[in-house]
Amino acid sequence: MASVTSLSDSVQQHLASALSATLPEAAGADPLLRRSDRADFQANGILALAKKAKANPRELATQVVAQVAAGDVIKDVEVSGPGFLNITIADRAITENLAARYADETGRLGVPYAAHPGTTVIDYAQPNVAKEMHVGHLRSAVIGDAVVQLLEFTGENVVRRHHIGDWGTQFGMLIQYLDEHPHELDHKDAQVTGEEAMSNLDRLYKAARGKFDSDEEFKTRARRRVVDLQAGDPQTLAMWQKFVDESKIYFFSVFEKLDMEIQDPDIVGESGYNDMLADTCRMLEESGVAVRSEGALCVFFEDVKGPDGKPVPLIVQKSDGGYGYAATDLSAIRDRVFNLKASTLLYVVDARQALHFKMVFETARRAGWLNDDVKAHQLAFGTVLGKDGKPFKTRAGETVKLQDLLDEAVERATAVVREKAEKVGLTEQEITENGRYVGIGAVKYADLSTSAVRDYKFDLDQMVSLNGDTSVYLQYAYARVQSILRKAGEARPAAHPELELAPAERALGLHLDQFAETVLEVAADYEPHKLAAYLYQLASLLTTFYDQCPVLKADTAEQVENRLFLVDLTARTLHQGMALLGIRTPEKL
Ligand code: ARG
Repeated sequence: MASVTSLSDSVQQHLASALSATLPEAAGADPLLRRSDRADFQANGILALAKKAKANPRELATQVVAQVAAGDVIKDVEVSGPGFLNITIADRAITENLAARYADETGRLGVPYAAHPGTTVIDYAQPNVAKEMHVGHLRSAVIGDAVVQLLEFTGENVVRRHHIGDWGTQFGMLIQYLDEHPHELDHKDAQVTGEEAMSNLDRLYKAARGKFDSDEEFKTRARRRVVDLQAGDPQTLAMWQKFVDESKIYFFSVFEKLDMEIQDPDIVGESGYNDMLADTCRMLEESGVAVRSEGALCVFFEDVKGPDGKPVPLIVQKSDGGYGYAATDLSAIRDRVFNLKASTLLYVVDARQALHFKMVFETARRAGWLNDDVKAHQLAFGTVLGKDGKPFKTRAGETVKLQDLLDEAVERATAVVREKAEKVGLTEQEITENGRYVGIGAVKYADLSTSAVRDYKFDLDQMVSLNGDTSVYLQYAYARVQSILRKAGEARPAAHPELELAPAERALGLHLDQFAETVLEVAADYEPHKLAAYLYQLASLLTTFYDQCPVLKADTAEQVENRLFLVDLTARTLHQGMALLGIRTPEKL
């Protein structure tokens, strides 16, 4: 399939042939091309080549310049500094390249599919059963979803796994309480809302906890329940299932609010690996990767020590025979590698679990489950902070309810949308819809626009601000183009490569050209914040372009068409880029 390439690909080819024409041994060498502020592109690969050939780099560069066929693509090439090449692209090439992309019906905007896609199993959006979701779960869901979209866009096979916390001793207490108060999870209506489900669970949890702490006999019965649960007693399991189902109603309602698609078959919680736990431990013990220490099955590491200097092991089986978080994760690795045939395992999990994953991955490597062909990576994220710079809590010091937080974001955004609604001509229904897209977009963008591993401040005022690096700024940029296209009347977008470009048009065009490289890099490094930065820059260049270049009032009909084409391609790129971040771009705003 012939795909539309970027200008950098053409320049790269021109340079490579000029290089090998100058210096035969340079055939296949990388000219090390990059986008630059000084010229459109800069190549600095000649330095290393000159060193190897024991030649003077500036002289070699001058010879290469003579070999570069100035023509269709490269308008000008100059030697700069110690032997760099500064390259200026012809206006015609910029427009032609973008025009090919515009005409390409696949809508890929120049982004190629991976030649050899692998299979990535991504572990994200993993809340815990019978517990309220918190902002950490929000981050995992938002970042994970963006990475899923990005990987799938580049052609990677992606398997999603929501490793929900659905197993553990706390269920003994909950199930026993439910058994003694059988109607606690009943619903008034057939249609249960997520909020209702959560408040049911919350109430039940508090009641069960209260009884557990105050009633010794209940405590004993609850402990017996844990044993029944682990032994697979059918009645106990059925009640456990009720908690899982009730929690899922709640999870799905939050994910829906987040405008995010989560599929039930992809929810494979901790309990999904129960059947593998004993084997996992046996394999680790037999291979000597894990050893018994004070009755527990442990894995030790040279570089993991406690404050007392003693090694801190990863415990795969407790001395009472119980399995914990690590045994489950090690079993999940076996499942993902051997059954799902993953080539990459990705975990979108709080940075505070970094030591856990370091030990789990190292254990799996020692066991031979992970190796150079099958790699695991934790995409660790930082903490969400309040305006005061401390971990995000309510005034009363409780964790903030995710639903409330999202509702508030939508409410604020709706007010922002409403202010301009009359001017734009929005119906009440459009105001509500856009309020959702802007509010949820704001929350996602704030999360995705800083590097994941850094902490960030949750500041709704800033998030829905029309100025600055916010999603709503990008959404407005998109909607403004749509408004111009609507007002264009008879005039339609059409590329005119014969036209000379104004500086603001060149800058916009060259940045548009960079979309493919950006997406590939961002997908390869799991760094959605770089896509956010790219899009923000794109919107800013569009603003500058408007200031300097009238669109509908341009001098000639050809210029009007060419500028309509430029802004339309910019809008498409904004739309696609935002979609990869999980953010919608309303047509009217
Ligand atoms: N449920 C866990 C939590 O809330 C996150 C699970 C992360 N994934 C994993 N495979 N351990 O902290």
